[in-house]
Amino acid sequence: MPAIVVVGSQWGDEGKGKITDFLAQEADVIVRYQGGNNAGHSIAFGGKKFALHSIPSGIFDPTKLSIIANGVVFNPKAVIEELSILQEAGVDTSGLRISNRAQVLFSYHKTIDALQEEARGVAKIGTTKNGIGPAYVDKFMRSGLRVADLLDKDYLTKRLTEIVGEKNLILTRLYDAEPINDIALSALIEEYYGYGQYFKRYIMDTSYQIDKELRRGKKVLFEGAQGVMLDIDHGTYPYVTSSSPIGGGATTGSGVGPSMIQEVLGVCKAYTSRVGEGPFPTEQINEIGDKIREIAHEYGVTTGRPRRIGWFDAVVMRHATRVSGLTKLSVNCLDVFSDFETVKICVAYKLHGEVIKYYPASLQDLYDAEPVYEELPGWSEDITQVDCIEDLPENALNYLNRLSELTGLEIATFAVGPDRDSTVVLKDLWKIADSEVIKHA
Ligand code: GDP
Ligand code: IMO
Ligand code: MG
Repeated sequence: MPAIVVVGSQWGDEGKGKITDFLAQEADVIVRYQGGNNAGHSIAFGGKKFALHSIPSGIFDPTKLSIIANGVVFNPKAVIEELSILQEAGVDTSGLRISNRAQVLFSYHKTIDALQEEARGVAKIGTTKNGIGPAYVDKFMRSGLRVADLLDKDYLTKRLTEIVGEKNLILTRLYDAEPINDIALSALIEEYYGYGQYFKRYIMDTSYQIDKELRRGKKVLFEGAQGVMLDIDHGTYPYVTSSSPIGGGATTGSGVGPSMIQEVLGVCKAYTSRVGEGPFPTEQINEIGDKIREIAHEYGVTTGRPRRIGWFDAVVMRHATRVSGLTKLSVNCLDVFSDFETVKICVAYKLHGEVIKYYPASLQDLYDAEPVYEELPGWSEDITQVDCIEDLPENALNYLNRLSELTGLEIATFAVGPDRDSTVVLKDLWKIADSEVIKHA
């Protein structure tokens, strides 16, 4: 019965994949609930390293179900590529399941994403150009096709012909680009019908399956992609992604009610990173940012772009805590701060002469907001081998405690390296979630 949601609480790349993989060791079902192959989740264990994009970070154990749920935009071509990389590395991927209600991401979504970004010029969002935004637009415009539709050739042919007609108007009149001609349309129908046949054995009503597993007492782990500040409602709009990475996204994105969830784990780094454009109040475009980027190899898993780096922002984190209903915190990359004389935390913003502690909605206010910092002493010890909290240098412990105080969240884990074994557990989340279930039974 217990269910835990893993949520990115900054701008993505907080180490959600790593924490999901860690918690998945004790889970029975792992569910990706939103986003698509814009995500890049790194996982390292047993001397091996993987980068997952659409496939849940539980895939390494075939006895578990790894579900791509209805809230995800499913790019079949990309998932086949991802599966083949895993299979070549000897991973048995038979635990995969795909929602029959997930939206299908077509090649024209990718084309339109790139054209839109080009047309935006300097106002570009800096998307991953994987077609994520256009696929979600079609979902909400009701011009999309779902995974179940790939199995019905007549319907697929009829709808895709109508939709491609709409797309051709966009391609030719808005972007002066080549239309999808009849030959290409026929090829598209064949290609995507083929994907349906390829994935047939994995496709099911995953909401029904998750509910069944929960009622059988199984442990379900929901894996968010992106992060709260990239959320379509609660992030730095319009510099966001087109889905709901917040905790609530797990329920709409998987067809499971909020009453089934006990714990919402916010994942963060000991600092902040961001890829793509948009406001970032604590950004360090200087030697501090460069130093952190090089120590932590802060380059995007999906696009290879250098990540923008900034100090830990408690204003962002309190916003994330509220809008996601976070119950605990996982702090990654604490090791990156060894060899810093002092470390800073943003505790408020100064905006137009006033000190504010909330995250403003207006984009201009976000650009104008000046961080108010608290400066803490750093530490010089290498902590990458630390495996219990008692072994942390005093200043690292103080830093961790201060993050907990400022966010109002208990720390469930902290990590001192990218490997599965570098995660130090302070709170047994499955045990806590289990006791919540019993309390409310
Ligand atoms: P995700 O998208 O949230 O799953 O995160 P990514 O995998 O995109 O980015 C996180 C990056 O930080 C990856 O390169 C990880 O290997 C790395 N990482 C995660 N946790 C730690 C940690 O505790 N210490 C260090 N040094 N690197 C970490
Ligand atoms: P994970 O799951 C970091 C960013 C893009 C861009 C914006 C919109 O690995 O944390 P999109 O392609 O989604 O339309 O791009 O969102 N972005 C991410 N940044 N981590 C991610 O995923 C991201 N997925 C999208 O860089 O700024
Ligand atoms: Mg990532």
